[in-house]
Amino acid sequence: FKKYICACDWIKPLIHQSQGAKEFAYCPYSKFRVGAALLAHDGTVFTGCNVENASYNLGLCAERTAIAKAVSGGYRSFKAIAIASDLEDQFISPCGGCRQFMREFGDHWSVYLSKPDGSYKEMTIEDLLPVSFGPEDLKKKRLFTTENGS
Ligand code: THU
Repeated sequence: FKKYICACDWIKPLIHQSQGAKEFAYCPYSKFRVGAALLAHDGTVFTGCNVENASYNLGLCAERTAIAKAVSGGYRSFKAIAIASDLEDQFISPCGGCRQFMREFGDHWSVYLSKPDGSYKEMTIEDLLPVSFGPEDLKKKRLFTTENGS
């Protein structure tokens, strides 16, 4: 990862990789292609696309696909995720479920919402999901806890 001096060196390539991932989108129902490229702290990139299903509600978003690939490969520390779609005039915005899924791994990393022309908007997880609930909250002092977990 040392080969990158500043973020300006990896943002464009990361967006480009999210556009490449979009090409693999399996979306016969919505016909709405989404790609994601997730940058881990050591520079490893995990890509993902949306994977729909005939049982519609089982479909996976691109962002969650990329995160599940990373976590199942041993990665939990992330620097950024870039998201791409075919929306001509709008930056693709992650769904609420994906915001929470990303937030599990911290709220100070970056999300790049992009357009097909490669332009982007940078936001943090905290910007996208303010006043969030995360793993730290489960460790905080509580007024009541059940002894046996029931
Ligand atoms: N989708 C994503 O993969 N990521 C987003 O950020 C927005 C929505 C997918 C889910 C579904 O397969 C299709 O786009 C239409 O909602």
